[in-house]
Amino acid sequence: MCRPEHFTVSYRINPWMRPEHATDTALALDQWTRLYDTYRDLGFDVSLIDPLPGLPDMVYAANGGQVVDGVALTARFRHAERAAEGPAYAGWFRAHGFDVREAREVNEGEGDLLLVGKTIYAGTGFRTDPAAHDEVAATFGREVVSLRLVDPRYYHLDTAFAVLDPDGGPGSVAYLPSAFDAPSRAVLADRFPDAVLVGEADAAVLGLNCFSDGRHVVHAAQARAFAADLRERGFETVPVDLSELRRGGGGIKCCTLELRGVRTGEEATR
Ligand code: ARG
Repeated sequence: MCRPEHFTVSYRINPWMRPEHATDTALALDQWTRLYDTYRDLGFDVSLIDPLPGLPDMVYAANGGQVVDGVALTARFRHAERAAEGPAYAGWFRAHGFDVREAREVNEGEGDLLLVGKTIYAGTGFRTDPAAHDEVAATFGREVVSLRLVDPRYYHLDTAFAVLDPDGGPGSVAYLPSAFDAPSRAVLADRFPDAVLVGEADAAVLGLNCFSDGRHVVHAAQARAFAADLRERGFETVPVDLSELRRGGGGIKCCTLELRGVRTGEEATR
């Protein structure tokens, strides 16, 4: 995670961002700290990267790369405003012992690349280039399934698609169907026949931008119907309000990059 010390909205690269409206960095820090504390209370091991001045979107750590089996594929941003975040996160991965692979194609990390079971679901349409999907498959030696986003409000896969159970299975994800083109909707229906289908109201508060360990789902406090659906399915729901960071177009998952080490022993067979 990355503390939003320099958070503000000074440019517009997604429809949520309104540079003409002032942001409250202290409030963003406060809300972010609550998310950090929530993760710690749940027992997660949280590492921090130093925020850099001039990179107001660096708080959205999910975009910093993708890390699977101890291998870190660096991010390569679509927009010049965020370009310097790629090397910043790459430096962190290197300093922390990950096997770093430099991306050649445009990919915005876990914003568009989500691991479900053994498969990586990869978004495209706004940010990550389809050519990056092949690069991801080659880098991690995993099946990559491409999904095309069509609604500019849901410009990253993690704004329209949530992993509820990292182990996978027919009901292991939630998504907003209208955010995808018809072929992608067909793929999702086929792969996840028991998915939670989320409505526009919950998606519009970035409800799908949640983080789950398979049991607890940390989600936007405003996504009430989604939370009720999750509880009905046996998940423990943990609401957190990130309304100030939503003004940059990001939520809980955006602020969270998962660091997956090399799996050994019993874990490797899951
Ligand atoms: N302002 C950032 C951008 O447009 C928000 C990124 C949100 N991150 C995410 N994983 N969806 O790039």
